[in-house]
Amino acid sequence: MNAETTGRKRILTGDRPTGPLHLGHYVGSLQNRVALQKEYETFIIVADVQTLSTNFDHPEHLPVDVRQVTLDNLSAGLDPDIVNIFIQSMVPQIAELTVFFSMFITVNRLRHNPTIKTEAGQYGFEENMTYGFLGYPVSQAADILFCRADLVPVGEDQLPVVEVSRFTARRFNELYGKVFPEPEGLKSETARLVGLDGQAKMSKSLGNCIYLHDSTEEVRKKLMSAVTDPARIHKDDPGHPQICTIFSYHRAFNRGELPDIEERCRKGTIGCVACKTRMLQVIENILEPVRERRIQFDKPGRVDEILKKGTEAACFEGSRTMQLVREAMHTDYFD
Ligand code: TRP
Repeated sequence: MNAETTGRKRILTGDRPTGPLHLGHYVGSLQNRVALQKEYETFIIVADVQTLSTNFDHPEHLPVDVRQVTLDNLSAGLDPDIVNIFIQSMVPQIAELTVFFSMFITVNRLRHNPTIKTEAGQYGFEENMTYGFLGYPVSQAADILFCRADLVPVGEDQLPVVEVSRFTARRFNELYGKVFPEPEGLKSETARLVGLDGQAKMSKSLGNCIYLHDSTEEVRKKLMSAVTDPARIHKDDPGHPQICTIFSYHRAFNRGELPDIEERCRKGTIGCVACKTRMLQVIENILEPVRERRIQFDKPGRVDEILKKGTEAACFEGSRTMQLVREAMHTDYFD
């Protein structure tokens, strides 16, 4: 099946396998993937090579992390009968395209990329970064373009990287002839989720996450110790919802009750514990079906079988694209 025969447009998106996925991933990208999987032909990349752009010294984590991220995607509701989930390093056409693209993407464009700058700061790479880290947006352009994707649902922080893919597609088409669509980034309504500790972002390295695999008890404990409005000492003190972590979760997951909760918080007629208990119910409504699907997919060999099938489909699409690329670039030497 491909876009020409099904008439559907294509999605490519995915994750670095660096650990379990959390609710930040859920609102940032997973929810959109699940919602759009029937409308778009969908490819989900498990970006193991990109993980090595920062974790090259710990490849031994990849076998576990690759399967965990796949299982998280399946648990979130991606249907392996209609979606292709595949491993980046096992699609050689992505590596080939990365090399061709790297001939015309300038170092300055990468150096000035806002995502690269921010991440270089986070990892302490400002003074000395690897060629692979600086170039990961080029490799990501190949991730997206190898299957000629139209749409890329991502978290807000990835939009500048998707911009490099758009530029790459445009520039390739200008230089060699039209092969690629210009892929569009799709940001979710809730771009980012605040961490349980009130920090700007849920992030594994900050240890402030609710994971998709957390049990009810774990979620309850985490919510109960989450930071709220520090000015509220007694439960009938008037609150400031705009600075409260839990209120930001209501905004992300509980739109219907938002005006009511806001008013009661301001008036001091709902206490933080009651507000957190309500949030627990809302999150449990999301995580309960996720847990059920996890049990269903977490069977010996099942995840590998899904990855093998998805990788085969990806290689098939990759070879079709490479045919077009080689024709356009005069590198189709033999028939
Ligand atoms: N860079 C993405 C992240 O860190 C993961 C990723 C790799 C990706 N290749 C991609 C996302 C292609 C979208 C499209 O989360």
